[in-house]
Amino acid sequence: MTEAVAPGKIIICGEHFVVYGEPAIVAAVDLKAYAYASFVDELGIHIYSSRVSEVSLRPIHEVIKLLLESRNVRLDNRGIAVSINSEIPISAGLGSSAAVAIASILAVSKLLGLKLKKREVISLGVRAEEFIHGRPSGIDPTISTYGGILLFKRGGRVRRIKPTKPMEFVIADSGIKRSTGIMVRKVGELSSKYPEVFLGLRYTMRKIVRRAMKAIVEGEIEILGDMLNLNHGLLSAIGVSNSKLERLVYVAREVGALGSKITGAGGGGCIIALAKPGESDRIASSLIDAGAEAVYKARIAEVGAM
Ligand code: PMV
Repeated sequence: MTEAVAPGKIIICGEHFVVYGEPAIVAAVDLKAYAYASFVDELGIHIYSSRVSEVSLRPIHEVIKLLLESRNVRLDNRGIAVSINSEIPISAGLGSSAAVAIASILAVSKLLGLKLKKREVISLGVRAEEFIHGRPSGIDPTISTYGGILLFKRGGRVRRIKPTKPMEFVIADSGIKRSTGIMVRKVGELSSKYPEVFLGLRYTMRKIVRRAMKAIVEGEIEILGDMLNLNHGLLSAIGVSNSKLERLVYVAREVGALGSKITGAGGGGCIIALAKPGESDRIASSLIDAGAEAVYKARIAEVGAM
């Protein structure tokens, strides 16, 4: 049996606009998905998980098939079983589906003795995302594969970002499940209805991401907080927030977070709050009091999938 592990992620700045080619900053977090692959007597590909739904397992099945086809692997009279175990909350904007896909791809490639380049792993991961929503930017499989913090641009080269000061993020899950595909489509409809307005928002998002990147590199954490707040304003503007997310975002700020925002597609799922050093426990407990279903103190996962 082979084993592989892949991290989930938070988007620090730039979700949704990244689908349209704008840059985004994304960090891998130490919530992980594990996959175990083995040969079995039963023919075909078999994916098992106690927590991940049938719907999310289908893309994995399809990409493993693609992997076997692309490498001309014939299983002859045996099959492959992949068993998945994930700590990442599902449908919450933390990259669970991409991490599960990446871990599965790696576990199967180890089982078959295939050496895949990072970009091959990512492109299979993107194929899996395409089953979930038609327009993935590729940000989730990319960060899960690389780990650390990245400046990501669709179809472009990724750039590693090295923070000069440690950053403490608190993640709060609203407990509202949502579909990334539906949220991406909703934003697509708005952008086609008001293209010139949307173009202005894109431009603003690009400036926010650039300023946030400088703030991370130079250790200006107050400025980073302001960029998170501006980013959240744009997410509200494009209609991916709701009353519960707004409540969590504002409670975090009221109890001293330097900035807070939705992370991921919105409509539910998680928010992140940037805490002053040593203040994350207090912010986390206020978020629970305000109705968050779960909170996590996010540590950056420096190492990507392996
Ligand atoms: O699946 P989520 O909620 O982590 O969202 C991913 C980020 C989006 O920008 C909304 C979609 C994408 O493919 O980039």
